[in-house]
Amino acid sequence: MSGIRSSIAAITLACVSAMAFAQGSASDPLAVGRQMLAEDNPGELWIDKGKQLFYEKRGPKSASLEQCDFGLGPGKLEGATTRLPRYFPDTDKVQDLESRLLTCMVRLQGFKREDIVKRAISPGGSNGSDVEALALYITSRSNGMKMNVALSHQKEYDMYKAGEYLFYRRSGQTDFACIQCHGESGKRIRLQDLVNMTDKKQIQETVSTFPAYRGAHFVVRTMQWRLYDCFWQMRLPELAYASDTSIALTTYLHYQGNGAAIQVPGFKR
Ligand code: HEC
Repeated sequence: MSGIRSSIAAITLACVSAMAFAQGSASDPLAVGRQMLAEDNPGELWIDKGKQLFYEKRGPKSASLEQCDFGLGPGKLEGATTRLPRYFPDTDKVQDLESRLLTCMVRLQGFKREDIVKRAISPGGSNGSDVEALALYITSRSNGMKMNVALSHQKEYDMYKAGEYLFYRRSGQTDFACIQCHGESGKRIRLQDLVNMTDKKQIQETVSTFPAYRGAHFVVRTMQWRLYDCFWQMRLPELAYASDTSIALTTYLHYQGNGAAIQVPGFKR
């Protein structure tokens, strides 16, 4: 009897999950494929690469990045990215993860800033850049911890307000603003869903999953790349890597995403 009951239960469960599956795929036909890919995320490989790069003595000064301070003290990585971008007294600037990495690679390791910037965003199908791997490794040390960007320093607040302004401002030859593509749910360009960034859940999912493995490019992509790419789509002048404009937008987006648990590498189509 209990055997029959449990097989009925199993069949019922199978039906219910088949229904859930069908419903999920009806509203989002790409969700199933995305789920399968995410379970076997090749981005994981970049974490190890980033870790190696972090501890290796490199550059003209033959130093590791262990003395790099991401806001919680030299070498303290756990939880550091939950609070980025943030104000750093030593540079007197609000910095995101990537601009802070640049500072350390220049100051501690003696690399030339231009050289790193030139290679920071890797060509698709390549082995990826050092910065991409490092950014992923460092962010992965905050996996499971909640985004917690604060605007307690005046410069953090100013960056946030600048980012908010940029997000809503129409500009360039196409007169596009971020809000036009990212202000409503259910919008698409070709097959790509556009994240509605005025929706707390959607913006949280976005900011907590970068750096992410980009399936179409076979490399790990960072938030700097994402913004660069949207600027390109808007036909705006090229977004300079680690520029204040990029950091202002990141501050705005990350603050909106507060409360989301970091989960990297994300997986993007
Ligand atoms: C012309 C439409 C368009 C405009 C305007 C636009 N974007 Fe995007 N955005 C996209 C597309 C397309 C994607 C990628 C969707 C995909 O690949 O699945 C995207 C993705 C993103 C993502 C990543 C979402 C995720 O979870 O993967 C972020 C962050 C983002 N945009 C920020 C911005 C910001 C900030 C601006 C303004 C500076 C902006 N976008 C302007 C079209 C646009």
